[in-house]
Amino acid sequence: MIEYKGKDHGSAGWIIAENAFDARYLAKFETILCQGNGYLGLRATTEEAYTGERRNMFVAGTYNRFANQEVTELPNAADMVRLDISLNGVPFHLEKGTIHAYRRELDLRQGELRREILWEDEAGVQYKLCFRRFVSLRDRHLIGIRAEITPLNQDAEITIRSGINGQMANSGAQHFLEGERRIFDQELLQLTATTTESGIDFVHTCLHHLSKDGTRLNVSPAPAMERRKVLLTYKIKAEAGKRITLDKIATVHTSIDLEWSDHPVANLPALQETARDHVWQAAIKGFDQLFAESEQAWKRQWTDSRIEIRSKDPFDQLAVHFAQYHLLLMTPAHDSRFSVGAKGLTGEGYKGHVFWDTEIFIMPYFLYTDPQTARKLAEYRYHTLNGARKKAKDNGYRGAMYPWESAVTGEEETPEWGPVDVVAGTPTYIWTGKIEQHITADVAYGVWHYYQATGDQEYMDRYGYEIILETAAFWASRLEWSEEDQKYYICDVIGPDEYKEHVNNNAFTNYMAYWNITKAMECARQLMHAQSDVYSALDSKFALAERLMEWEEIVKLIYLPQPDPDTLLIPQDDTYLHKQVVDLEKYRNQEIVATILADYSMTQLSDIQVSKQADILVLFYLLEDWFSRETKAANWHYYEPKTLHDSSLSLSTHSILACDVNDVELAYQMFAKAARVDLGTNLHSCDEGIHAASIGGIWKAVVMGFGGVRSWEGTLRLNPKLPPAWESLSYPLSWRSERLQVKITRDKLLVERLTSGTGQLNLSIHGQSYLLKDRIVVDLEEVMPSE
Ligand code: BGC
Repeated sequence: MIEYKGKDHGSAGWIIAENAFDARYLAKFETILCQGNGYLGLRATTEEAYTGERRNMFVAGTYNRFANQEVTELPNAADMVRLDISLNGVPFHLEKGTIHAYRRELDLRQGELRREILWEDEAGVQYKLCFRRFVSLRDRHLIGIRAEITPLNQDAEITIRSGINGQMANSGAQHFLEGERRIFDQELLQLTATTTESGIDFVHTCLHHLSKDGTRLNVSPAPAMERRKVLLTYKIKAEAGKRITLDKIATVHTSIDLEWSDHPVANLPALQETARDHVWQAAIKGFDQLFAESEQAWKRQWTDSRIEIRSKDPFDQLAVHFAQYHLLLMTPAHDSRFSVGAKGLTGEGYKGHVFWDTEIFIMPYFLYTDPQTARKLAEYRYHTLNGARKKAKDNGYRGAMYPWESAVTGEEETPEWGPVDVVAGTPTYIWTGKIEQHITADVAYGVWHYYQATGDQEYMDRYGYEIILETAAFWASRLEWSEEDQKYYICDVIGPDEYKEHVNNNAFTNYMAYWNITKAMECARQLMHAQSDVYSALDSKFALAERLMEWEEIVKLIYLPQPDPDTLLIPQDDTYLHKQVVDLEKYRNQEIVATILADYSMTQLSDIQVSKQADILVLFYLLEDWFSRETKAANWHYYEPKTLHDSSLSLSTHSILACDVNDVELAYQMFAKAARVDLGTNLHSCDEGIHAASIGGIWKAVVMGFGGVRSWEGTLRLNPKLPPAWESLSYPLSWRSERLQVKITRDKLLVERLTSGTGQLNLSIHGQSYLLKDRIVVDLEEVMPSE
C-alpha cells in the first residue's frame, strides 16, 4: 500500500505514495499526506467522498467550546476539497467499476499532492483522472485544486458539483452557526460561518475555472444552496481523448487572523470583501502560477533547513524530510498567540491542544533551525501566563501553574472523561489535567533552552524571566513538608509515565521542580548584579527579595531520589520498584499501541511495573550533566523492558539516550521504530492525526542523538556518533545568531560557519574545547570516548 519512493530522477527521499486504493486505510493516508502551512492544515481526503473518511480542515488557534461541559477544540472548517463527479450520469467512485491503475503521492519538495487513476465504469467507458492539490506556502490562506478528466474510449458527459460544504462537524459536535451563503457573478462562492461560543468568523471563498485541452471553457454552472452549503454544478461534453480540467482556487480567512484581530467584529463585510478580492486576484494568476509561487517558498525552506543522511536504508532520509515537512505544517510560525497541537493541524485527536510535547519535543527543532519561530513558541507561553496564574490560584497555589492541555487562554483544557475503563464499564477519569504537573517546569525549561540557544536577552527581559520566576513560585508553594523525614515532597502526581497515577515523588517531577527553583534563583541573582533595572521591575511585581530568601531555605530540602549505590537505579517514584512484575511480552510485541488497556484498568496498571513511555530517561536527557553515564545506562536497561512505548514520545527519547550511553546500534533500532510511528506500514497508526511530538522526536534522534547536539549552560556541544548504517550526516544549525553547517562522516566532523561573525565561537566536541572561526575539522577517532 505505501511506497517510499517516487518515479522521477531526484525524487529519492522525497515521495510518499499510496499505490492502491483501499477505503479501509483512508485515514492513515489523510494524515500522513496532509498539507498545510502552519496557518491551516488540510487532511488529504480524496475529492470523491467515502464512508470512513475524515474530511478535516483546521485553522490554527480558532478554538471553540461546543457546550459548557466540554473543553474547547479546533473546529473542523467547511470543506472545499470535495468534488462530486458524475461520468455519463454515473458517480465516480472507486469502490465501483474497475481500477486499472492508481497512484497517489505527496511530494515533500513542494508539498504537492497528486493522484492518477485509470478507471473503467460498469458500462466499459474508460477514464483517466488526475488530481493535483497544494496549500500555498507563499499565501497562507490559499488552496489550489486541479482535476483533469479524460474519457479515453468514448465521448462522455462530465458533471462536476463543487463548492463549499459547511456541514462538517468534530465527531458530531457542530461548532458553527448556520452562516451566510453567497454566489457572486455566477462563479465565486462564499460561505461565512461563525463559531458558536468563541464568535470567530470563518470566511470560505472559492472560484472555478474550466478548460478543455488547455482552452478556457465558458460553461454556465447551475447554482444551488442547501443547508450550510453553496454549490455549482458544471456539465461538460467531452470527446474521447479530450482533457477536461477544473481548477478550483479556494481561501479561508478568519476574524482572528492577525491582520484582522484588531478590528471589531462588525467589520465582517470588509473581511468578506477582502477574501473575495483575494480569490479574484489569485484566479487571475491561475493555478500554475500560484503553485509555482508556493513551490519557490518550499525551495527556500529546504535550502535553509535540509538535512542529508547517507544511509544504507533510504527510508532514513525520507523520514527526516517527512519530519521537517510536518514540523512546518504543524507550527503557527505566523502568530505567537497559538502554539502546536499534539496532532498538529492534521486531525481531531487531542482537540488541537498544546502539551509538554511543544517544549520538550518540537521546540528544539526550531531552536536549532529557525530561532524566529522558536521565539513565537516561547512567546506563546507568556501570552498564556495569566491563565496559568489563574490555575495556580484556583488550586490554592502561588505563581503560575501551566495547564496540562492548553489552548489560547492558558487555562486548563484537559477533558475529564476518556476511553472505557474495562473493569468498571464507565469512561475513564482523566487525571492529567489535575495532577500531571511537570508541565510547569517543562515550560520553564523551554524558555531557558530558548535563551541558551539564541542568547535572546530581549525575550528574557520582556517575558522569559517572568515565566521562570512565576513557575518557580508555583513549585515553592506546591512542595509538601514531611515532618518525619524533614524533606519536601511532591505527592499525588502523574509523571511522564501516564500508567502511574497518584504517585509520590516522581523523580522527573521532583528534579524538574528543583531545577526550576534553582534556575529562578540563579536568574534573580544574576539580574540583581547585572541588570538592576530588570531586577527592580520584577522585584516590585513579585517581591523578589523575599522569594529568594524563601527559595534558599526550601530548595536544599527538596527530596531528590538518588541512584542506589549498588544498582544505580533511581526509583521512578516512591513505590514503582516494589510493584508487581508481570510478563509484558504480549504487549511489547503488539501491532497497535495501548493493547494493555483492553486487559487492565488504569487503577490496575498503577500496581504493576509497567511504563507507558520514557519517564526518568527524559530527565537524563534534559539535565544530562546531573547524572553519570553509568547511572543512565543502568536505568535504561531496567526501565526499557518495562516500557510499552504506548506513547509515541517514548522511542525517540530512548534512541537519544542509547546514543548517550554509547550504544549506537540500539539507538539506531529505536530510531528506526520512532521513524515509523506515523510513516510506517501500520495502516491505522495515525488515523486521528500525526504524532507531533514523535515527528519532533525524529529530528531530535537524528540531530541531538546521532548528531550529538546539546546546549549546556551556554556552550554548544557536539558529540556525534553515527550508526553503522550511515555513511554521513549533514545538518544546518542555528546557534546564538550564527548559522553553522555540520557534516559528520565516519571519521571526521566538519563545522562550517555560514554567517560572517567576527568573534570566535566556543564549541565542546566530545568533551574537548574548540574555537570556531570559519571552519574546523575534527578527527573523530581521536576525540571519541572509547566503549
Ligand atoms: C502522552 C503524553 C503526551 C500526550 C500528547 C499522551 O499519550 O502520554 O506524554 O503529552 O499524549 O501527545
